[in-house]
Amino acid sequence: MQRSDAAEESFPIRRLQISDKNKGFIELLNQLSLSDSISDQEFQSRFQDLTSHGDDHMICVIEDDQSHKIIATGSIFIEKKFLRNCGKAGHIEDVVVDSNIRGKSLGKKIIRYLSEHARSVGCYKVILDCSIENKGFYEKCGFKEKSIQMATYFD
Ligand SMILES: CC(C)(COP(=O)(O)OP(=O)(O)OC[C@H]1O[C@@H](n2cnc3c(N)ncnc32)[C@H](O)[C@@H]1OP(=O)(O)O)[C@@H](O)C(=O)NCCC(=O)NCCS
Repeated sequence: MQRSDAAEESFPIRRLQISDKNKGFIELLNQLSLSDSISDQEFQSRFQDLTSHGDDHMICVIEDDQSHKIIATGSIFIEKKFLRNCGKAGHIEDVVVDSNIRGKSLGKKIIRYLSEHARSVGCYKVILDCSIENKGFYEKCGFKEKSIQMATYFD
């Protein structure tokens, strides 16, 4: 077994829990995009809101069983369409692996878990946006370039 495979197998993956705020979950997200700190109350409120969507919104995490820190995460939102005979599409967002443990297949494990979730709830596709720098990573995960991203931001 290769080193990266061994690392992948030794880190169980699970859904986000409310106690993960105290395990560095927000600090990990900050490695993706710096944001203001959020209070326990704000976290709890957003957590409950997201949880109320059941399987249509899922955030997964990997916890380091030594440090008990959250070291990898990703989320998926299930879009319900009229197209494709009322089909469903999975949208992957906010994928990040702690900078100290990148290159050990944890990113791949997160993507596989989210994609499997999409398949299990009946999605016909999974899509995501990424930077040019991460294109190779998603290709390794089996994704192909399709279309371009358009965005407008509200201040
Ligand atoms: C992108 C990211 C999630 C990858 O996680 P990771 O755990 O380091 O990646 P893995 O070890 O699972 O890599 C899987 C494969 O992709 C390759 N890979 C990883 N990052 C890559 C990159 N940026 N470009 C090309 N290939 C890459 C690895 O070499 C590995 O190849 P292999 O299967 O042949 O060994 C991680 O680097 C990260 O968190 N980056 C900062 C946040 C970010 O940009 N997130 C993506 C938002 S779209």
